[in-house]
Amino acid sequence: MRISIDEATKLLNSGKVIGVPTETVYGLAASLQYPQAIQEIYKIKGRPANNPLIIHVSSFREVCSYLQENICDLDILARDFWPGPMTIVLPVKCKLIPSIARADLPTAAFRIPKHPLAVELLKLTGSLVMPSANLSGSPSSTQPEHVENDLGIDFPILDGGRCKRGLESTILIQADGKWKIVRQGALAPEHFVPTLGYKPSVQDDAKNGIPVCPGQMYRHYAPKAKLELVNSFENIEEGVIIGFSDRTYPKNCNLMTLGPLSNMDIVASNLYAVLRQLDLEGHPKAYVDMNFPKTGILATLAERFHKAAAAN
Ligand code: TXA
Ligand code: MG
Repeated sequence: MRISIDEATKLLNSGKVIGVPTETVYGLAASLQYPQAIQEIYKIKGRPANNPLIIHVSSFREVCSYLQENICDLDILARDFWPGPMTIVLPVKCKLIPSIARADLPTAAFRIPKHPLAVELLKLTGSLVMPSANLSGSPSSTQPEHVENDLGIDFPILDGGRCKRGLESTILIQADGKWKIVRQGALAPEHFVPTLGYKPSVQDDAKNGIPVCPGQMYRHYAPKAKLELVNSFENIEEGVIIGFSDRTYPKNCNLMTLGPLSNMDIVASNLYAVLRQLDLEGHPKAYVDMNFPKTGILATLAERFHKAAAAN
């Protein structure tokens, strides 16, 4: 059910959960003032209780009001990347944030989104927790129809059209005075170089045991269809291919296109719609063309395909 910004504000301010557009993916929003509504988010998504949520706010001042201590270079990251697709994990004054939002951790993740409707809404409601608006483990939602497919046609959604970025925010944390990326996302490591003077490293969870980001432990982004990641189509004669519109593939194959590889922003914005389309059309399996440079946000795209393929 599509709702107006007034209805969205009323629902959130009375402890209800709704779908909200952001520039990355749709979020499933509840007010930070309503722990019961936050609890409802975990239930609706089928999300494990130890996987904390991102707190979305409308200003850097608000972020600072929750913090336990000053963090070096936080101000320059905020200046250059907020509002936008960057999330930062920070030590917080625990009494100001319900433990259910933090999954009992002494830290919380913060983001100031850029989508005009999200910005307007946050000014009317105050801080909102928002995980991606999908069933836990499934592809994220980048259109209101995706949220309806997962949560039902009657679920209240503030319709903000298609999400421009189509990949979740990049999550950063500071350790030993350096920033590192604990979830790859819509901003690539190279984007941070002019601000920080270095490229933040990407934490490889497989090598480091328990991930900093609890969400990284779980099944993610996965359609029901089985994905087979391939670098060449030489020995493939038929089947469904997730690939690029500026490439040719074996003629008996059915191409589900991400768009032209020459435009990685378009490709990124189509990822989740294509993964969802696979299931809507009932395909049991698809080959994914992985023969692309793993640079910029294409590295995030590759990571999403690896996670989605590992899950089934
Ligand atoms: O783009 C996005 O970030 C979207 C939109 C709606 O803003 N949100 C999103 O939320 O992707 P979600 O819940 O799907 O992913 C949040 C990730 C999870 O992997 C979670 O473990 C991590 O953030 N996270 C949240 N709080 C954390 C904390 N205190 N420490 C470490 N990781 C945290
Ligand atoms: Mg998610």
